[in-house]
Amino acid sequence: MTMLRASRIVDVREIVRGWHRAGATVAFVPTMGNLHDGHYALVEHARRIATRVVASVFVNPTQFGPSEDFARYPRTLDADAAGLAGRGCDLLFAPPVEEMYPRGLDGLVQVRVPGLEDILCGAFRPGHFAGVATVVARLLGIVQPDRAVFGAKDWQQLQVVRRVVDELALPVVIDAGATVREPDGLAMSSRNQYLEPAERRTAARLYAVLSAVRDALRGGADPHAAEAHALSELRAAGFRPDYVAVRLAHDLAAPLVAGAPRIVLAAAWLGRTRLIDNLLIDGEI
Ligand code: PAF
Repeated sequence: MTMLRASRIVDVREIVRGWHRAGATVAFVPTMGNLHDGHYALVEHARRIATRVVASVFVNPTQFGPSEDFARYPRTLDADAAGLAGRGCDLLFAPPVEEMYPRGLDGLVQVRVPGLEDILCGAFRPGHFAGVATVVARLLGIVQPDRAVFGAKDWQQLQVVRRVVDELALPVVIDAGATVREPDGLAMSSRNQYLEPAERRTAARLYAVLSAVRDALRGGADPHAAEAHALSELRAAGFRPDYVAVRLAHDLAAPLVAGAPRIVLAAAWLGRTRLIDNLLIDGEI
């Protein structure tokens, strides 16, 4: 089937309603476009768990801070559409801003996630997770999928989305897709293309440092000592780290509880580019 495209909510609803009536199951992959193999792995994951796949491309203004990269965020819709069609996506929803925020941004009804939205990346990007939670709730309401797939690379986002779905009782199952890495270990991200060649060579150290924390914790190391060591390693490599944190994987709480799966997460700047990554210490996603 050739991929359908829609930019209006009514059209998405009609298409998905038709599929559901015909007995199909629908999996949804929300994105901000500029798609890479990490996104395409989510689309392939979606293909495996449902009979129809919807992807969205929307660079959501409300999740960018005033000094962040909204204006320069890469927009490559034609290439994204070709890539999605090639991976068996059935419908691409690429709305204009007015379709997503018809009343504008002042007075917008917002979804907040107290606790989760203010820690880790949220402490450095005020308002970011409220923007994510709000747009994801709206996208889920528009598409009404049976399942939705989010990348594990954005682990805090994944937990924010799970909380929203749980607390608002949204009838959708959230799936996590494994992080896809470059051969040197760097997690794929649209922001990697901002890196200068020398920064790109350094960038893989983030994965190496997180791997060392994971291995140390598996060997019984103290989490605070491992975090402090990782911060100094990142600084020595040329990063400006925002944080390195060992937390409980499912709710990002600290302190750790014996026996509960742990995760190490980090955010660090290289020049003008902010990179994030994480590794589970126990278990699998
Ligand atoms: O992960 C992203 O690309 C975005 O945060 C998302 C989930 C599409 C919401 O805008």
